[in-house]
Amino acid sequence: MLRSIRGRGYDACTMIKRPKIAIIGAGGNVGAAVAQYAVAKELGDLVLIDLKAGPAEGRALDLTQAGAWEGFNNTSFTASDKPEAMAGADVVVMTAGVPRKPGQSREELININAGIVKGICADVKKHAPDAILIVVSNPLDAMVFVAKQVTGFPRERVIGSAGVLDSARFRTYLAMAAGVSVEDVQAIVLGAHTDKDMVPITSTAMIGNVPITKFLSAEKLTEVVENTKKGGATLTGLIGTSAWLAPGAGTCLMVEAIVRNQGRVLPCSVELTGEFGVKGAFVGVPVKLTAKGAEAIYEFELSASEKEAFTKSVAANTELMTIARGFLG
Ligand code: LAC
Repeated sequence: MLRSIRGRGYDACTMIKRPKIAIIGAGGNVGAAVAQYAVAKELGDLVLIDLKAGPAEGRALDLTQAGAWEGFNNTSFTASDKPEAMAGADVVVMTAGVPRKPGQSREELININAGIVKGICADVKKHAPDAILIVVSNPLDAMVFVAKQVTGFPRERVIGSAGVLDSARFRTYLAMAAGVSVEDVQAIVLGAHTDKDMVPITSTAMIGNVPITKFLSAEKLTEVVENTKKGGATLTGLIGTSAWLAPGAGTCLMVEAIVRNQGRVLPCSVELTGEFGVKGAFVGVPVKLTAKGAEAIYEFELSASEKEAFTKSVAANTELMTIARGFLG
């Protein structure tokens, strides 16, 4: 089933190609949120793919109807349950898999999601071999590894979305604690996307270019770090399933950086080949996102405790990768 829904202003004869963005798992909350933000930003033509065409088509129709008031221009949607609908995509966003339930860790999802992500990545390799693949499925870093192994894409084109989300949570909690606008908070989270092992970086955090220690005591900062690390679990407990708006917004920011060739520097999960002294693991590091994907990775000096936490994060990821390898066959 393949349905096209054309928004206002769409001109099939246009000579200038708009980016094609395929969202896999678009019937789910995170995929739908990515679509919603992408439409609002008019990033390109969206292909919403899900196991069942109904939910994908429903999300596409709902968004199209929202456009009647929101005035989205230059948008077309295709909804499909067929992987070939992603053919020729410039960016593929992979949100397929099950979300965590209250009390469950992301790591526990590996037994279900590794197989799902593996199967879909084979489709990506077949139908969208030139795409930049953004992985959102959990456990995130291990799923980026699976995607990299299955597609064989260069590391620039297999990028995990989690640091943007964790950093959004970190910045939010910092702003709330300091009583300032989140807009002026500069802070990132590196390492693995797990409650236990993510590494909110306090040593370089700033508010309006003023070091964070001018705003918050060490005790308060520790509280913010802890809130950040359990940020996803808190929301899962409150909502009953994992969050989607902040994950969708962060992922869409990455899509935008790529399709608009912005050169944004954002924390993303990629394969490390020596950066931060790590080879072969997949964790969050500062990445320059352009039309080429993860065009550059930037290293900087971490504090002693951050270095230690980062090393633990890499070790945890390596363990998960060992489990994931079992699914690769
Ligand atoms: C979260 C999930 C999406 O942290 O990983 O909310």
